[in-house]
Amino acid sequence: MGSGWLADAVMYEIYPQSFADSDGDGIGDLRGVIDRLDHIASLGVDTIWFNPCFASPFFDAGYDVSDYLRVAPRYGTNDDLVELVAAAKQRGIRVVLDLVVGHTSIEHAWFQRELHATGPDPDGDRYVWREHLPQRTWSSDLPGTPGWVASPGPREGFYLKNFYDEQPALNFGWTHLPDDEPWRDPVDGPGPRRNRQMLRDVLDFWLSRGVAGFRVDMAFSLVKDDRDPTACVQATTELWREIRQWLDDAHPDAVLIPEGPEPRMGTDLAFDADFFLVILAEHATLFDNHAAGVLPFQPPQPPFFDAEGAGSTSTFLAGWAAAKQVDPHRPVILSTADHDFNRLACGPRTAEQLGAALTFLFTWGSVPCLYYGDEIGMRYLPGMPDVEGAICNPAYNRAGCRTPMQWDDGPNAGFSTADPAQLYLPIDPDPRRPTVAAQQDDPASTLNLVRRLIALRRAEPALGGRTPTTVLHAGYPFTYRRGDSHLVVVNPRREPAVVELAEAAGAQVLLGSGVVIDGQRVQVDGFGHAVLALPLAPVSAGSS
Ligand code: GLC
Repeated sequence: MGSGWLADAVMYEIYPQSFADSDGDGIGDLRGVIDRLDHIASLGVDTIWFNPCFASPFFDAGYDVSDYLRVAPRYGTNDDLVELVAAAKQRGIRVVLDLVVGHTSIEHAWFQRELHATGPDPDGDRYVWREHLPQRTWSSDLPGTPGWVASPGPREGFYLKNFYDEQPALNFGWTHLPDDEPWRDPVDGPGPRRNRQMLRDVLDFWLSRGVAGFRVDMAFSLVKDDRDPTACVQATTELWREIRQWLDDAHPDAVLIPEGPEPRMGTDLAFDADFFLVILAEHATLFDNHAAGVLPFQPPQPPFFDAEGAGSTSTFLAGWAAAKQVDPHRPVILSTADHDFNRLACGPRTAEQLGAALTFLFTWGSVPCLYYGDEIGMRYLPGMPDVEGAICNPAYNRAGCRTPMQWDDGPNAGFSTADPAQLYLPIDPDPRRPTVAAQQDDPASTLNLVRRLIALRRAEPALGGRTPTTVLHAGYPFTYRRGDSHLVVVNPRREPAVVELAEAAGAQVLLGSGVVIDGQRVQVDGFGHAVLALPLAPVSAGSS
């Protein structure tokens, strides 16, 4: 299973549209990323995760792929991606791509072929078609919920979508096969078999070009079942385990990262990590202050990382304990933010408040994933236009976390030379907006805090992803031990916080501000945060 490198990784997510535009068309591109690799390397991260960069009509920002084997022309060429992978490797950075295999774009040649056919493909349909609307169906017609879409013709009937209507579900078969619905294929039917082979072909194509692995979009959406959700997850997991077994021979170092946590089905796991996704309760209860909208699937509650200090770490810690109980060594990825919801700097959360959040994110026993721009505290921009399917639910707008990277004080914050009206999304209009250039040489900047935290994590294995994390105080100030050698204290609230801890005696601050240790007393200013070294454990007499 993978090579294990993921447990030591520090990841950096790049939304390619918005990172750096080298050709002045207003949209980021791969050459732009190549030009900015030194910035990425200066952070200390060692793994880039790209959101999809493949050919696409961009109804859903590239999560609607029309050719898995071709880089979208607006981002460059396949050769550019190979060059980027090689240039990143020279700096010790791996590149992970996004694999969107639950569905394609309606513009994919496979879909167009089936759309223009008069009936099922003799080799097996790659998509799911039926002539009449079913009696049994899914209850809601929301993006992300499978649903039937009337064929835009010439083929008659309906196709199954996976997210937006423009994202037809690929046919990986069904677990429930009623006699009166003969159009359903079993998971080993000819169409599903073609798609399983396709999966290997796509993985092999990019892994052979130096890519280090994939983040798998909607990883557990492949096999369908409208009656028994567990059965389809079981069958989908089985499919991924087969892929993992093949990878173990063909590309043993490659990693597969699921979009969320991998469901535990009582068998071997197929993926190399769990992902505590931004929209899930474990992350949302820590950071979601509702300023980017409301997640319809999370009951709103005050986040722990908030000036008011009314939140709790309990949901996060319960999820963490559950994940670690099953397998203490399995990596759990925890992002600062991502392309699907908000940012750390969201609504009332100020730059001053980011230190506690970043200190936690880079010293917890998870694998950190820094979302582009969060290293300078770029803010979530409310009121952005609905570009490329950004609004998938009326309750929130993903565009606010997808705005262009702010590099310097030049036109368009150094992102692009295009006319501002041509930009993918508007730049933050605030004249005090953070930029890389302004923070570069400021020792007190968010950028340099991030660099110092990552450097410390690298220098001290106890702060990495392989060492146990022991919570000493779950409230304010949140206090935990890493291994036997380090203590971390963060107080995300405005009010100072104090805790008495026998373990804290003699601890020395390595990095941070606003934390004083007085005997066993840990005193933390509002928004204070620190990483501390614990005194060495006494060596017992007679030990050598
Ligand atoms: C995942 C992606 C999201 C996309 C959706 C459909 O949730 O992160 O951006 O819209 O899948 O592919």
